[in-house]
Amino acid sequence: MGRTRWVAGNWKMHGSRQANRALLDELVPGVSQLRGVECVVCVPFPYLGEVAGKLGGAPIAWGAQNVSEHAQGAYTGEVSAAMLAEFGCRYVIVGHSERRQLYGETDAQVAAKFAAVKAAGMTPILCVGETLQERDAGKTEEVVARQLGAVRFEEGVLAYEPVWAIGTGRNATPEQAQQVHAFLRRKVSPGTAIIYGGSVKPQNAGAIFAMPDVDGGLIGGASLVAKDFLDILKAAAK
Ligand code: 13P
Repeated sequence: MGRTRWVAGNWKMHGSRQANRALLDELVPGVSQLRGVECVVCVPFPYLGEVAGKLGGAPIAWGAQNVSEHAQGAYTGEVSAAMLAEFGCRYVIVGHSERRQLYGETDAQVAAKFAAVKAAGMTPILCVGETLQERDAGKTEEVVARQLGAVRFEEGVLAYEPVWAIGTGRNATPEQAQQVHAFLRRKVSPGTAIIYGGSVKPQNAGAIFAMPDVDGGLIGGASLVAKDFLDILKAAAK
């Protein structure tokens, strides 16, 4: 009687039509054999329609990596939540640290994006996480509490992604992840999925997912390699 686990792949700005097809050709049969794990792929905007078509009725949901906080208007280059929902998109990552750091997204913008995703009937995957400097200064809980508190969080997926663990090969230890997840758990409604992201690989996924407050993972680099992503999904299934 395990709880549902979540494993979401964040492809970031990677992929090509051919590479996406090859990846999904391996993922679909593999994921179809798994039970108890919700699999999501978060795909660059141009590929969403094609990926959705390719997934068809497969047990893999798809989502976007970003969205505008505005409903419509003169916002060149932006994509609204309603546009995504119109194509059947179910998930949207909001507040990823790369967007906060590289594009200056503020807590207020993240909150508005979260609300826009909810209003369009989709599920936001809200990312929170501290930098190494903030961790070393003992501010981890303060930072993630501020990032979460800025959002009217209800019925979403919460992802703890320590910035220092993203793309660095240096994952949080299972105990470090558990400590922050337990802290976050007290701030959200029961049943909220809290997933961990940051250098999750087949080798460390089992130990991280075994922690009582870790409900799965948000996977970057390893989600682009079918075998690795499937091995991570298997570590979450059972
Ligand atoms: P990596 O798994 O490549 O460290 O990326 C994690 C991440 O940012 C997922 O959103």
